[in-house]
Amino acid sequence: MKRVCILLLALVALACGSENTKKVVGLVADSALVVSAHPLASKIGVDILKKGGNAVDAAVAVQFALAVVFPAAGNIGGGGYLVARMDNGTIAALDYREKAPAKATTNMYLDKNGDVIPNLSLEGHLASGVPGSVDGMVEAHKKFGSLPWKDLIQPAIDLALGGFPLTAREAKWFNGMREDLLKYNTVKPENVLKDNWKEGDLIKFVDLGHTLELIRDNGRAGFYEGKTAENLVAEMKRGNGLISLEDLKNYKSDWREPITGNYKEYKIISMPPSSSGGVCLIQLLKSVEPYPIKSWRHNSSKNIHLMVEAERRVYADRTKYLGDPDFFNVPVKRLLDDQYNDERMSNFNPDRATPSSEIKEGKIEGYESEETTHFSIVDAKGNAVAVTTTLNGWFGSHVVVAGSGFFLNNEMDDFSAKPGVPNQFGVLGAEANKIEPNKRMLSAMTPTIVEKNKELFMVVGTPGGSTIITSIFQVILNVVDHKMGMQEAVDAKRIHSQWLPDVVAIEGGALKKEDSISLTKMGHVFTTRRAIGRVDAILVLPNGKLEAGADHLRGDDRAEGY
Ligand code: DON
Repeated sequence: MKRVCILLLALVALACGSENTKKVVGLVADSALVVSAHPLASKIGVDILKKGGNAVDAAVAVQFALAVVFPAAGNIGGGGYLVARMDNGTIAALDYREKAPAKATTNMYLDKNGDVIPNLSLEGHLASGVPGSVDGMVEAHKKFGSLPWKDLIQPAIDLALGGFPLTAREAKWFNGMREDLLKYNTVKPENVLKDNWKEGDLIKFVDLGHTLELIRDNGRAGFYEGKTAENLVAEMKRGNGLISLEDLKNYKSDWREPITGNYKEYKIISMPPSSSGGVCLIQLLKSVEPYPIKSWRHNSSKNIHLMVEAERRVYADRTKYLGDPDFFNVPVKRLLDDQYNDERMSNFNPDRATPSSEIKEGKIEGYESEETTHFSIVDAKGNAVAVTTTLNGWFGSHVVVAGSGFFLNNEMDDFSAKPGVPNQFGVLGAEANKIEPNKRMLSAMTPTIVEKNKELFMVVGTPGGSTIITSIFQVILNVVDHKMGMQEAVDAKRIHSQWLPDVVAIEGGALKKEDSISLTKMGHVFTTRRAIGRVDAILVLPNGKLEAGADHLRGDDRAEGY
């Protein structure tokens, strides 16, 4: 009933019209698009599509290419999630998230007094989970791939062995990372240690190229067994890390049922736990659905207030209820229930910010049984793939596996090292996300596909740690409610809040002065951030063409298509 009333209000409000926004149009392609964090990776994806590969083939090639050209986040030493929607309507979700090593323990990052030892879960060998990326790509290819495996890896090998020119951003990153690379590596990664990298400098990753050759020739055994596995375990031994040969051999990625839910006339298809992304995204959309978002200007005080209040409640739930479903009974059905989300918003006050101290997780009884990268692909048949993959932090643990040339993740920091102590993204965790052997750490990654009238409508995702979910939330609202095109929706300034800390992060210029004054009066506290997320997305236009949204304002992201 409440929903109906609010919808009526929305109709009245709609009559007032919405603001005209300037149209920025992204690359429009007739048939197929790849949007990723690096121009060379996008080009490799499109080359695979032109050779007759499908979107999953292209995704495998892009994942390996990013491990070379964007090693700060692209990886074979990390993990990720893939959501696919094939042209026949089949949907699938692949969880290739890292797992805690078998020797991991709940209190492994605590000192004798039970306090978290700073940085231990973030830097160096102890920070790494067992990598999932290579197994994930093998599984994705097995289920949906059409071109030979070796053809998908060869382009990455060519780049690694032949070298490629650094972008200005990459040159800066390598220069900035030099000291940490020296500090955390027992064997210096000479190829990246030059003193002063400049834009256009050629960089090669010869050891990584040879590792990719092993993967090309031996599939998963090229990584989880033999020379690569031995080098990785030797690296762990030199740095007191925990990953063993057994851990590597036992690693398996998992096909899971995608999370789905409706927002207005759209169907959202996203990543289930071990990521919190899909559940939280749908909770957020359901929480705001009854309100007249369209009639409230984009980033107006009313819309920001509504989004922030929904975010507080959803992130409080995330802290309590989300974790690896193989270890913790995540109450997905209840969290996605319309009535539950209405109840959560029942104390929403349009005039006042609710202090996060007054918000707790919802009541659920008897549970039912900065750095990551995202790419979006649509092929000429309409197969769509959304992949978000990560080492967690920028260059992960900063450890390069000597002799194999790849960076290892620091994904262990995504566990809750101690209840109530925030991780690097400031998010809290509890029992659901405590460290246990072989368990997956909770993620916020949200690779998402949206359908409209049962047809493909949008492919979207982003890096950004805990801001991933809220970035995707805003991009969907931008397109669906604020009627923006894809590039415009990606470019639009973003905000983020996550229950605790009780602040609203905003990108510079996100708010008009009058809106920030009224939001401050309501009780919101702001902090500014240089960039929130780095969204790469594709929209199917009414004429059937595809529009890219590549986040080139916030990164080197580029679309390629034909
Ligand atoms: O899985 C997660 O939620 C995080 N490890 C993602 C890290 C990330 O996006 C860093 N990028 N800024």
